[in-house]
Amino acid sequence: MTKKLTFPENFLWGAATASYQVEGTIRNTDWYRGGQKGIVPLVSDGIDHFHLYEKDFDIAKELGHNAHRFSIEWARIEPKEGVFDPEAIEHYRNVLQSLHNRGIEPFVTLWHFTLPLWFVDRGGWEREDAPEIFARYCEYVVKELGSLATHWATINEPMVVSSIGYVRGAWPPFQKHNFFAFLRVVKQLSKGHKFAYRRIKKSNQNAQVMIVRQNLYYFSRNPIAMPIAVGIRWFWNHRFFSLINNEFDTIGLNYYRPHEFHKMTKRPKNDMGWDIYPKGLYFVLKELKRYNKPIYITENGIADRKDTKRLQYIKDHLRWAHQAIAEGVDLRGYLHWSLLDNFEWAEGYKEKFGLVGIDHDTKERTVKRSALGYKKIAESNTLEI
Ligand code: FCB
Repeated sequence: MTKKLTFPENFLWGAATASYQVEGTIRNTDWYRGGQKGIVPLVSDGIDHFHLYEKDFDIAKELGHNAHRFSIEWARIEPKEGVFDPEAIEHYRNVLQSLHNRGIEPFVTLWHFTLPLWFVDRGGWEREDAPEIFARYCEYVVKELGSLATHWATINEPMVVSSIGYVRGAWPPFQKHNFFAFLRVVKQLSKGHKFAYRRIKKSNQNAQVMIVRQNLYYFSRNPIAMPIAVGIRWFWNHRFFSLINNEFDTIGLNYYRPHEFHKMTKRPKNDMGWDIYPKGLYFVLKELKRYNKPIYITENGIADRKDTKRLQYIKDHLRWAHQAIAEGVDLRGYLHWSLLDNFEWAEGYKEKFGLVGIDHDTKERTVKRSALGYKKIAESNTLEI
């Protein structure tokens, strides 16, 4: 017998993207430079969401989405230090307006991994005044566009971007094993967030300022490894929160996979080899309850070229999200990663996270089967299992 799980009234349903991954034509960033040097794949203009966003939002609307997360490219807004580009602001004003025209609630991220070249060339996040510089950019954007959006996320995944950049060295600034720099950068990012929070709130009382976190479910079935897993989980999931000390209004949670130490369990995987464990979402949601703030799932998704696992992945995760809500977690929305197949950082275009496929030559968009299944859930606000 099928069971119907209904979500709270006004629950938001949609998908997410990030500027560098979908827009194309962004050249003045650290990622583009890394691509030119051949350290990471080079982004192309293949998706061209920069010009085709109206079309893409038509599809989102058609798919029953009533919310959408996207990011603003700092390098477009402030191409030179302290010089803001009114045309770039105009572009994002139009993007926001076109979401409003379709009755889609925007969630705007101010920084999603890519940095302007001038910022990295003056020392990046390691430079003492970096948090101030970042906060100045955030304030400028919210002053200009604040009337068109309520939800403003400062930083996407601070722990991820700093650990991959400074410990694994696989992302800019490509500094391998630089653990102390990593810790310093985490601190700087927390300051950047706090300074931005204060400036945004001062200039716009209505703004709901979010921090977006990829919280991980570290665990182990091995009794010796378990305490280590719990310690790392605390550090990864809560260190940043303790640094920002209640200066945030909402939490954006990105959840993809568990991290099992001393691995004993065999699990299904996505195309990138990431384990799939939907119940981990329930655990990380429950852990966030202690902060007593509204939570939105700002990313959850699967690399699935054939689109054979995506719908089940969505359903299984939503089932556990629903369970967390039933147990008192204040979860208010689900934004699937991603609306479109896009540039997956160090993996380039080969990994497919989208509800919608793209032909890079013709720019044609194709709605996938999973997207139609997700549409049913979004439109009915109900999951049938
Ligand atoms: C997250 C990123 C997002 C996307 C997904 C797969 O860590 O925020 O841009 O690449 O992973």
